[in-house]
Amino acid sequence: MPDSDEIALAVGLLRQGGVVAFPTETVYGLGADALNPAAVQRIFTIKGRPQHHPLIVHLADVSQLAEWARDIPPDAYALAEHFWPGPLTLILKRAARVPDSVTGGQDTIGLRVPNHPVALALLRQFAGGIAAPSANRFGRISPTRKEHVSAELGDAVDLILEGGPCSVGLESTIVNLTSATPAILRPGHISAAALAEVLGKPVTGHGSAEPAGPRASGMLESHYAPRTPLRLIPTQQLLQEVSALLAFARRVAVLELERTPSKVPYLERGVYHYIMPNTPEEYARRLYATLREADAQGCDFLFVEQPPEDEAWSAINDRLRRAANAHKAA
Ligand code: TXA
Ligand code: MG
Repeated sequence: MPDSDEIALAVGLLRQGGVVAFPTETVYGLGADALNPAAVQRIFTIKGRPQHHPLIVHLADVSQLAEWARDIPPDAYALAEHFWPGPLTLILKRAARVPDSVTGGQDTIGLRVPNHPVALALLRQFAGGIAAPSANRFGRISPTRKEHVSAELGDAVDLILEGGPCSVGLESTIVNLTSATPAILRPGHISAAALAEVLGKPVTGHGSAEPAGPRASGMLESHYAPRTPLRLIPTQQLLQEVSALLAFARRVAVLELERTPSKVPYLERGVYHYIMPNTPEEYARRLYATLREADAQGCDFLFVEQPPEDEAWSAINDRLRRAANAHKAA
């Protein structure tokens, strides 16, 4: 899949301090040479991201870990061997040479090896660390297709690599390995249970007693938000809530689960239906693209049928709750 000319072009740009958007299995990233503070600064400017928010450094493989982190615990190697390349970010103590701009001045660093052929080809040829947040403007929906990046950041970036739709669709699980007990800072495709099984010890899940760990901007309530006010609605209340809105001649987009027969009458004027898959894997893959599409309809509200609340859906529910919270203050 990787086009070798494009990869060579991207590597050249990164070496000159350029900013290159690239696909990963989770979401598209906005990358720069992690050892070049001026290049890293451009990421913050393009995203409109506050300076103190740390970035994840992407590596080609686990052998580079010791160049970026220090005092690496055996747990880190156990998780890396098992889950990399893959949607898992490890928070470790940073190596001395890592610029402050990458870590937000903290003594820790986020590291991950992404599982996507284009990202891996880029990382192998670049042979360094690529600092990359998701390639969206600060606080908005992460991109899961190249077109999302072009539409949102277009001319501001030097190059956008094509990699098709992201196979996971939600940002990586972040686990802090600098605390006494490993703790999840951001839930993702890899669950606390899966991590605990590999480590043979408990991992604090996200949403249990809030870890007083390093800050993660993905923890901000305002993250992952469409512009249209979003509300999470239990299945049984969906029809009633939609009808109430329509009585005021409002327009509403509804993300419904496929599993149950439609709760909202079809062809109802002013209702835009989006039928979402029943499995968390498929739902996650489609979520951000669907939110973008629904957001573009210019509706007054975006109603999302509450997905199941079990562990397999925790990352999805986390992102939906944050998207809903973003509008509560307004
Ligand atoms: O799947 C992903 O992780 C994607 C792809 C591009 O790899 N990246 C991503 O980056 O989601 P970003 O910047 O949108 O979110 C990274 C999260 C932020 O919440 C950031 O604060 C947190 O990782 N983070 C990075 N370094 C950290 C550190 N040293 N301590 C705590 N959190 C950290
Ligand atoms: Mg992000």
